[in-house]
Amino acid sequence: MKDYSIKELLAKGKDALQEEVIVRGWVRSFRSNQFIALNDGSGQNNIQIIINYNNFDTETLKQITTASSLYVEGMVTESKGAGQDIEVVANVIKVYGFANPEEVQETILQPKRHSLEKLREQAHLRFRTNTFAAVMRVRNALSFAIHQYFNKNGFCYINTPIITGSDAEGAGEMFTVTNLNLENIPKDTDGKTDFSQDFFGKKTNLTVSGQLEAETAAMGLGKVYTFGPTFRAENSNTTRHLAEFWMVEPEVAFYDLDDDMNLAEDFLKYCIQYAVDHCKEDLDFLNKRFEDEQKQKPKEEKSDQNLLEKLDFVLKNKFIRLSYTEAIEILKNSKPNQKKKFKYLIDEWGADLQSEHERYLVEKHFKSPVVLYDYPAKIKAFYMRLNDDHKTVRAMDVLFPGIGEIIGGSQREERIEVLKQKMQDMNIDEKELWWYLDTRKFGTVPHSGFGLGLERLVLFVTGMGNIRDVIPFPRTPKNAEF
Ligand code: 4AD
Ligand code: MG
Repeated sequence: MKDYSIKELLAKGKDALQEEVIVRGWVRSFRSNQFIALNDGSGQNNIQIIINYNNFDTETLKQITTASSLYVEGMVTESKGAGQDIEVVANVIKVYGFANPEEVQETILQPKRHSLEKLREQAHLRFRTNTFAAVMRVRNALSFAIHQYFNKNGFCYINTPIITGSDAEGAGEMFTVTNLNLENIPKDTDGKTDFSQDFFGKKTNLTVSGQLEAETAAMGLGKVYTFGPTFRAENSNTTRHLAEFWMVEPEVAFYDLDDDMNLAEDFLKYCIQYAVDHCKEDLDFLNKRFEDEQKQKPKEEKSDQNLLEKLDFVLKNKFIRLSYTEAIEILKNSKPNQKKKFKYLIDEWGADLQSEHERYLVEKHFKSPVVLYDYPAKIKAFYMRLNDDHKTVRAMDVLFPGIGEIIGGSQREERIEVLKQKMQDMNIDEKELWWYLDTRKFGTVPHSGFGLGLERLVLFVTGMGNIRDVIPFPRTPKNAEF
């Protein structure tokens, strides 16, 4: 007797008729003491199990409740019901684990529709819901596509450290890693914490980016990428920020900013195409969900495309490329700026762009993904290459509809004297980054890279509205349950 995943069996469809099979899964519903909808997580669709209750003892029947887990042996037959080709007429049913209906009522596993907020409180159970399981399968496909893209294109996957002594972004939003006794912190003669007594003999933190280490690797391996957990202690409670997220960071020797932008666009399109090609069932489900959600939105917030159309649009169109200076002109003259509708008004060159500005450019002005480049040096990190105007740096951000910034990257400053000057201007200690500066001493080359937040990509592809709903166990301010 063959053991099938429900996805495999449904895919085999009528070719499986008259076959004796084994399936296992969790009960989604049990109607009329006769029809069980069984799901094992392999896909969106359930298999219908038919039982003739005269053939089973009442003890077993009583244990078949929503959320309980079953082993089923049976014969595949043609389904008389609508919506499925086949079903399984059960000969043997064993209950692995009973789920008490009263307790189920109190969880998200009750068959009623439940809010995403409620789902988040039960992160251990939400893998059983259609929505979250679909999101997780798409996330899985995108992660695989990321590795496949770089593998096909000659990149070497490297693992950069999670515990590090450096602050790559210079923004200071770091979680300290320590095993000092917090009840009795050793102090130095200035009254400051004496990290020389700490585990690593110096102050360390969880990484905010693997870039600096990836740059050292690119200076020997040429084309590399990192893909790992990344931590930011920024206290921004938004639908786009997590304190722990997964970042993909390619770094390429001999690439200038144009090469970098081309790479970013090609890479994003590859991953989105992969999801479209491999997650049809889940994306159809998420598309329907997206459309239902749009119906409830006020007219001015409604998207004129559904999820699948949005994905298709990004795949078919070349991203608009625009300098920061051009973007500021557009924003200055834009309606929301003139009518003082932006929370942060744009009055002069040099202003940092907020997500409201990014989304205006993408969603209202261009109605297309946009790559902004050549930002003011003052609002960007120290490692970005200074342009000849001495005012802007070779930075680029990829902005997506509904998301805002999905990728941030740059051509790196490869000239040691310029780099040292920038570090001095931004108060970054040369001694801490001696190893980084070394890459500019021993055969320095132009090079570039970028970072993509995996969750922002999953948000875009699944059409979900909150980043907490696209990661299994979200970490946000005041929230680290599970
Ligand atoms: O723009 P960021 O801060 O760039 C860097 O960290 C560079 N070192 C990358 C590089 O050039 N190698 O972050 C890159 C991307 C953002 O565009 C966003 O997608 C994501 O990482 N990101 C976050 N995602 C979720 N939660 C947060 N708190 C995020 N911060 C950044
Ligand atoms: Mg950024």
